[in-house]
Amino acid sequence: MISMKIPNLKDAKVRTRNKSITKENEYILNDNLRVLGKGKTYFVKTYGCQMNEHDSENIKAILEDMSFTEVDDMEKADLIILNTCAIRENAHNKVFGMLGRIKHLKESRPDIITGVCGCMVQEESVVEEIMTKYKWIDIVFGTHNIHNLPNILNTSLAKNKLEVEVLSIEGDVLENIPVKRENPYKAWVNIMYGCDKFCTYCIVPYTRGKQRSREPKYILEEVEKLVKDGYKEVTLLGQNVNAYGKDLEINYTMANLLEDVAKTGIERVRFVTSHPWDFNDDMINIIAKYDNIMPYIHLPLQSGSSRILKLMGRRYTKEEYLELYNKLRSKVPNCSITTDIIVGFPGETEEDFNETLDVVEKCKYDSAFTFIFSPRIGTPACRMLDETPKEVKEQRLYKLNDLVNKYAKEANDNYENKVVKVLLEGYSSKDKDMLMGYTETMKLVNVKADSKYIGQIVDVKITDVKTWSMDGIIVD
Ligand code: 5AD
Ligand code: SF4
Repeated sequence: MISMKIPNLKDAKVRTRNKSITKENEYILNDNLRVLGKGKTYFVKTYGCQMNEHDSENIKAILEDMSFTEVDDMEKADLIILNTCAIRENAHNKVFGMLGRIKHLKESRPDIITGVCGCMVQEESVVEEIMTKYKWIDIVFGTHNIHNLPNILNTSLAKNKLEVEVLSIEGDVLENIPVKRENPYKAWVNIMYGCDKFCTYCIVPYTRGKQRSREPKYILEEVEKLVKDGYKEVTLLGQNVNAYGKDLEINYTMANLLEDVAKTGIERVRFVTSHPWDFNDDMINIIAKYDNIMPYIHLPLQSGSSRILKLMGRRYTKEEYLELYNKLRSKVPNCSITTDIIVGFPGETEEDFNETLDVVEKCKYDSAFTFIFSPRIGTPACRMLDETPKEVKEQRLYKLNDLVNKYAKEANDNYENKVVKVLLEGYSSKDKDMLMGYTETMKLVNVKADSKYIGQIVDVKITDVKTWSMDGIIVD
């Protein structure tokens, strides 16, 4: 028990003025650990955002360094790891549901090793629950110590006991963690970790620590290597990418980084997620200037009511958001813009909700991810009075979704008979005779084409448009 490290909310909140520290040699693997997984298989299941997807790519590479082999059937794996998300309660419930299934598996094969990691285990209450009700789990590790997975696993196996190591710290930037990339054409590249915005509903600043930007030289080296290895697209990842660089010793911003990444010659550059607060003109100008920076922006609105935005701690009003939105639309032609919206935030009235609908009417988003507010323990919004009945919140969500879908279809309709560039990634999941890929504006397109085109950016004529995807044919 003594070696266990358990998270706590109080420490997770701390933000000092200290600059982030880059560490190049934190991940070390001795010869014993290199063979620990020999002859054994693993399965990693990922929940949540792209950041988590990318963390799983690190976890997989570490496991392969330890000689484990990946399998795509959980039932056949010797080691099962769930990389979890804490953003809303349903993400949480899905993980506990999955743990039920794994427990069942473990009853017939007691030698299965089970691990839980990611954002959910950064929550005190979740670790408490695991330690009391899920003692059969072998390892629990947090978002700050993925590099230490080999040692955590080794300790648990040696003691044959649950080993918990979750750190509630601001965090450092670790530069030598290996990665097993899932897609041979598109790569995730972390540019920063953590978040300091503390929107009142959001758990992320507690689960991921302080904002820490990677130094540009490491990011650029990584992208240059990806170009050499034949990758066509990079997505720069951060919780709040527009604030990139603010915590660095040097004077270097997201606009500078975007420009330098574009100059590496990689064919497509994307970035997520943006916060309207830090989205300045320099950045907009760079996006407009470089053809290889994709005209696609995810710009979370969260609410259209300035009153609710204030309660959410978003630092912009409805009018300021609309001004930025219109600027983006006018300066970046043919840009597609998507958003995130929360309904049913504590105290949201019908009038507030109508303000949200009004913004959607005005912005006509290409698409939107919509959610009902989910109280997260420890966040300020969790303590706010929330009297709106669940049914009313659901009705608001349905109404919002109808409007969002209407504009998503309208936006897609503009593509009919147009010729667009699509990076073909592989076979369509729905129809194995079709290939699939995304346009520059992030529209999903299914294309009737020969498999030789996989991995190429091709000109596609759109022949049929649906709400969430399009069909097309290659044109020469
Ligand atoms: N409840 C509902 N939705 C949330 N999001 C973040 N926190 C919550 C919460 N507590 C949504 C926001 C964010 C997206 C990733 O998830 O819209 O942009
Ligand atoms: Fe989920 Fe947020 Fe963690 Fe991503 S950063 S896994 S969305 S809680």
